[in-house]
Amino acid sequence: MFKRLREDIATIRERDPAARSAWEVLTCYPGLHALVAHRLAHACWRARRRWLARFISQVARFLTGIEIHPGATVGRRVFIDHGMGVVVGETAEIGDDCTIYQGVTLGGTLLTRGAKRHPTLERGVIVGAGAKVLGGFTIGENAKIGSNAVVVKPVPAGATAVGNPARVIQPADRKRSPEHAAFCAYGITPNAEDPVSLALHGLIDHAANEKQRVDEIVAALERLGARIEALQGAGASGIDLQRLSAAIQGAAQTSTDARADVSMEGQDVV
Ligand SMILES: CC(C)(COP(=O)(O)OP(=O)(O)OC[C@H]1O[C@@H](n2cnc3c(N)ncnc32)[C@H](O)[C@@H]1OP(=O)(O)O)[C@@H](O)C(=O)NCCC(=O)NCCS
Repeated sequence: MFKRLREDIATIRERDPAARSAWEVLTCYPGLHALVAHRLAHACWRARRRWLARFISQVARFLTGIEIHPGATVGRRVFIDHGMGVVVGETAEIGDDCTIYQGVTLGGTLLTRGAKRHPTLERGVIVGAGAKVLGGFTIGENAKIGSNAVVVKPVPAGATAVGNPARVIQPADRKRSPEHAAFCAYGITPNAEDPVSLALHGLIDHAANEKQRVDEIVAALERLGARIEALQGAGASGIDLQRLSAAIQGAAQTSTDARADVSMEGQDVV
C-alpha cells in the first residue's frame, strides 16, 4: 500500500510542474486522495460489500469533488489533476499512466444493467479539462482528448481528438518520437511553434526515414545472399559505399544467374 502511495506521489511530482514537495502532494492533491479512497471502495466492491463500497465512494466525492464508481477499474500511476467535477462510471477502465483533468466525465449512454456502458482508456491517455467521453468504446494508447471535447466514438492509439462531437486532428499512424511518447503536461508538445525546434524535428524525422530505408535495403540484400557484416566497419557511417555497391551488383548477378538456371532447367525438362 505504501509502495503504491509513493509511486502515486512520484507520478504527480513528475507530471505537475506546480508540485513542489512530496508533503504538498500528500496533503493538497484531491486526485491522490480520491484514488486512495477508490482502492478501498473497489476492494469492498469486489468483496461484494456493495453498499459499503458506494458509501466510501460518496464520502470521497464529498471530500474531493471526484466521483469514481467503486466498480471502475483504475490502473497504476494514474493522475487526476485538480479533479473537481470528475465522474468515472461503473464499467469504466483507466489504464496505467493516464492523466485526467478537472471536469472530465467517463460516462455512459446506455441504461442496460451489466453491459459495458463506460469507456476504456488504454495506457498513457490524457483527457483534457471538461472533456466528456461517452460510451463503452476504447480510447487507444497515448491518445489525447482536448479540453471540452465530447467523444462519442473510439479514438485510435496516438491520435488527438478535439471538439464536439470530437474529431481526430492528428493521424493515428504517425510514428511517435520518444519526445512525443513521453508525457507532456496538459497534453501539449513543448516548443511546438519554435522554428529551430521544428527544423530539428524535421531533421530527426528525415534521419529516421533514411535509416529505415537503409535497413530495408540491407534486408533485401541479405535475402539475395549478400553478407552485410563484411561491409561494416569502414567510414563514419559504418558502411563502405563502394563495397555496398559491389555487393548490390554481385547480388543482382546471383539473382540473374539463378533465374537463368531455373529457365535452363525448365528447357531441360521440355
Ligand atoms: C488537444 C490538445 C492536447 C492539443 O495539443 P497540441 O497537440 O499541442 O495541438 P495544437 O495546440 O497544435 O492544436 C492543433 C489544432 O487543434 C485545435 N485545438 C487544440 N485544442 C483544442 C480543443 N481543446 N478544442 C478544439 N480545438 C482544439 C487548435 O486550435 C489547432 O487547430 P488549427 O490546426 O486549426 O489551428 C490540447 O490543446 C489540449 O486541449 N490539452 C488539454 C489541456 C488541459 O486540459 N489543461 C488543463 C490544465 S488545468
